[in-house]
Amino acid sequence: MNEYDSQRMAQVLQQDYRLTIAPEEADVILINTCSIRKKPENKVYSLVGRYKCLKDKKPDLIIGVGGCVAQQEGQRILERMPYVDLVFGPQAIHRLPRMLEDLSRNKTARICATPMEKDFEIPSIKGPLPDSSMVRTFVTIMQGCDNFCTYCIVPFVRGRETSRPPGAILEEIRRVVSEGIKEVTLLGQNVNSYGKKNKEFPDFAELLRLADRIDGLRRLRFTTSHPKDLSESLINCFGQLETLCEHLHLPVQSGSSRVLKRMNRRYDRTGYLTKVERLRKACPDISLTTDLIVGFPGESERDFQDTLSLLKIVEYDQIFAFKYSPRPGTRAAEFEDQIDEEEKSRRLAEVLDLQREIGSKRFKALENTVQEVLIESADQTGLKGRTRGNHVVHLKGNKNLVGKLVMIRIDKAGSHSLQGSIIPNHALQLPNK
Ligand code: 5AD
Ligand code: SF4
Repeated sequence: MNEYDSQRMAQVLQQDYRLTIAPEEADVILINTCSIRKKPENKVYSLVGRYKCLKDKKPDLIIGVGGCVAQQEGQRILERMPYVDLVFGPQAIHRLPRMLEDLSRNKTARICATPMEKDFEIPSIKGPLPDSSMVRTFVTIMQGCDNFCTYCIVPFVRGRETSRPPGAILEEIRRVVSEGIKEVTLLGQNVNSYGKKNKEFPDFAELLRLADRIDGLRRLRFTTSHPKDLSESLINCFGQLETLCEHLHLPVQSGSSRVLKRMNRRYDRTGYLTKVERLRKACPDISLTTDLIVGFPGESERDFQDTLSLLKIVEYDQIFAFKYSPRPGTRAAEFEDQIDEEEKSRRLAEVLDLQREIGSKRFKALENTVQEVLIESADQTGLKGRTRGNHVVHLKGNKNLVGKLVMIRIDKAGSHSLQGSIIPNHALQLPNK
């Protein structure tokens, strides 16, 4: 979601500004922030501090802080960091051109824009993508979250769930496809509840079917799915829709039903495992990834062992595991049975060790298979692409293959990526839909 927001920032400003990767060249520096855990939040302050010396040399430099930390801290950022000119929340991105214009005109002005409207509708952004070499991109289908998992700050900084009208979504997909995008990831905090509040909207599975029919779109993905809302009709889309890739990110958070209950996840271990079984039956090749939290308040050794055993049963291709980080204002931050840092670190290391073994085994099984790969980028070392299962593949080849789908033989599996070679005369031509 943050990546998408950064892209929108670049897009709304491209009429007046040019992107640079060199901060010392910039007239405006915007820092997009995340408050999901303490660590990224801390980074904001050190990063902004680093840009202060640029401002000392170039007083007209505008420094803006956007994203969820901006939403949460608002005015406090301006108080704490006098050299920050602008604080803006996720719902204020479309107002950036106007706000920057005001700041350039009035050098002493400082702006804090952190609106939180109940039914905020994501404004469609016209104009080309900020980088013409992009082959894949995100399209937001909904904003916010109503789930209130007890550890999570998102509902407080992104507001209530609102779905974008299907017409605007399909139109945006058509537009990015016409600019050369081959792969679209539909984005939302909880995509499975798309359209539930709007009777006239299709449900998420139906929206996928509509997107699948768009001419020129080759690959479709989505994130994030909440296991409690993963419907039978959505499961059946896998293996049925031509563009829908065989990969699902399905955050489990914990393998213990007791912990899941305290997290307010509203599914239990058995319910989750049953959905995984259904998915594998509908689409045997599906690759699964997940998010996990270790050291949630009150997580006993037995609960933790349940998480390890769930990893062994599901065999994810990849996991994203985090130590529980108390977020101010959330319910779990007030729970009394917090786990100490050392224990959290031990559990995290153990989870990652186990997953290294499981992941290696899953990746190894891809050796000597043939995969459809979308080539995303090229550099001196070669080409980089992705399988439909979302595994990164490195290979040698001509850089004019960027943006093409090619058939690759997987020669060697590493722990996080694959190495492959192009099967000669086998540039993949899917029927023109
Ligand atoms: N502490 C640790 N991890 C968290 N996540 C969300 N909130 C917290 C928190 N307070 C993780 C969850 C979520 C992912 C995006 O970040 O696993 O799925
Ligand atoms: Fe946070 Fe839970 Fe909503 Fe995901 S579903 S954004 S973890 S509150």
